[in-house]
Amino acid sequence: MPAKINLALKVGAPRVDGFHPLATIYQAVSLYDEVSAEWAGPGEFEVSVTGEGAGLVPLDERNLALRAARLLAETHGPNDSLGVSLSIKKAIPVAGGLAGGSSNGAAALLACSVLWDMDLSGEALRKLAAVLGSDVPFALLGGTAVGSGRGEEVVPALTTGSYHWVLAFGWHGLSTPAVYSRFDELCQRAPDVPAVPEDLMNALRRGDPAGVGRALTNDLQSAALDLQPQLRQTLQAGLELGALGALVSGSGPTCAFLVSGEPAAVDLSVSLSAEGVCRAVRRTVGPVAGARVLI
Ligand code: C5P
Repeated sequence: MPAKINLALKVGAPRVDGFHPLATIYQAVSLYDEVSAEWAGPGEFEVSVTGEGAGLVPLDERNLALRAARLLAETHGPNDSLGVSLSIKKAIPVAGGLAGGSSNGAAALLACSVLWDMDLSGEALRKLAAVLGSDVPFALLGGTAVGSGRGEEVVPALTTGSYHWVLAFGWHGLSTPAVYSRFDELCQRAPDVPAVPEDLMNALRRGDPAGVGRALTNDLQSAALDLQPQLRQTLQAGLELGALGALVSGSGPTCAFLVSGEPAAVDLSVSLSAEGVCRAVRRTVGPVAGARVLI
């Protein structure tokens, strides 16, 4: 299943439940984690993780894939006879603002529903996904979509063309709750109902990468930059090297640079790596489909 970038992330004042109302445009990009599911004994739920940042992924009840499997068994299982052994192969950095954990949750829902031969509607899966986390329903859907509520209400967006992105991974992760609380400290006047920017929606409809680049926006960016000031240098370097637009993805610290096509992506990745302003660089394309079953 793919990673996501928020092309726009408009954040409102915190609700009574502590979550922030969002107006966001998600795009799924071609950087994939893989989750496999095998039968385990009744009541046995386990997970193992390999690949990018594997040592940072919790293997206990905080693991979103494990929580997804348990939630599915509890809500749709026949009785106590279900069990699963999950293996996650990671390419999406942990705590990177690319919804790696959410993707793993979405993939586990899908993989377990197939393994356990459950005939669930898309709507039933989407409801479970929303319980697991704000970004999980989008991870099932993929493509480009407008997100509202706390991010869990998603509607496909009308877009044309494909968009080439260079992603710069940070040296350290950022905790999403920490970034939201810094946002609350920094931004005293967030609206109750944020809105997605019309200029970005129009540029996406036209398939105009330069217009999209100009309109990229993230209300969490100042909070992420406050917590990791070196990200300013990363963003600045990418823009000076010719990116059409740059922003911190979600709660960060991954920086996403939009470029005009494959050759520009190769050039920018080489130059960014040479500048030493990030831990690693990846080229991706969006939009791509959401979580998919490979048998
Ligand atoms: O929904 P999810 O579990 O991914 O959210 C992680 C944390 O991010 C929440 O506990 C909350 O602190 C913050 N959050 C928020 N408003 C949102 C989404 C997430 O405050 N719309």
